[in-house]
Amino acid sequence: MGMESKFIWMNGEMVPFEKATLHFLTPALHYGAAVFEGIRAYDTPKGSAVFRLKEHIERLLDSAHIFGFRDNPLTLEQVMTAVKDTVRANGLKDCYIRPLIYLDGGGWNLTVDAGKPSLAIAVWDWGNYLGEEARAKGIRANISSFTRHHPNVMMTKAKISGNYANSFLAKTESVRLGFDEAIMLDPQGFVAECTGENLFVVRHGKIITPSTAPVLEGITRHSIHTIAQDLGYRILEQPISRDQLYIADEVFVCGTAAECIGLSEIDFRKIGEGKTGPVTRKIQDVYHEAIRGKVKKYEGWCDHVG
Ligand SMILES: Cc1ncc(COP(=O)(O)O)c(C=O)c1O
Repeated sequence: MGMESKFIWMNGEMVPFEKATLHFLTPALHYGAAVFEGIRAYDTPKGSAVFRLKEHIERLLDSAHIFGFRDNPLTLEQVMTAVKDTVRANGLKDCYIRPLIYLDGGGWNLTVDAGKPSLAIAVWDWGNYLGEEARAKGIRANISSFTRHHPNVMMTKAKISGNYANSFLAKTESVRLGFDEAIMLDPQGFVAECTGENLFVVRHGKIITPSTAPVLEGITRHSIHTIAQDLGYRILEQPISRDQLYIADEVFVCGTAAECIGLSEIDFRKIGEGKTGPVTRKIQDVYHEAIRGKVKKYEGWCDHVG
């Protein structure tokens, strides 16, 4: 995967890509003591724009607050500006954006206060995370043997780097078994989310998604919710059982990296017609227009890089 770019923003400076390195003893590397965001910028008719930048940076700062960082390196406005500066400096129109606030020194006694947080921002050209064919064909998933976070074990509203060990366990297992993605159940046994996406079920014309208590408050989930409602669908937040997935008319997942992708098969059971269903397709099409600034009512979601 080509993740190269010209510059990585580190503590206020545009550092050349090859020089953007950290010491082996950075505590974030050893303990996952960092919080991050996954954002995308898209080429729109008015130039490159970051999709829902404010919401992503608010969540980044919320993640830092949840983890216990007391002194954020920058304010909301400063981080938003730094993100746009980084996209512009790299001359990329469509790109993935990865800000990370990490414990940079200190912290070997496992306390946040013993270290200091630093911010870095990388951008790179990244196609669909689940593969270019996923949008056309849908993907195959299984129910992971690993349980998603209990909300008092890992903080489910925060993108804490250490949280993603759980995603690594699940996704590695599913891919080794020949699936594209893992669906994870919450500690009560209800459907939670995938390793990096929220999940929706379509049945009898209604759309159902798990409540946000045990899962990440996905920003794509929110965009999809708005789009689906504007298309006239009723959306319910309620517990979903494993077998409700099997008998769904459609199941789809969404996230910044994956965008909006239908599931063709779960646990070797065909979902609906075994391809991206009509409701998913409608929502997916509007989403793809919206992220590229082509839907008037959602233009406010696009923050132009300038
Ligand atoms: C565990 C998890 N759930 C859901 C999502 C989707 O969130 P978003 O739509 O904000 O990218 C992500 C990706 O950030 C994630 O890591």
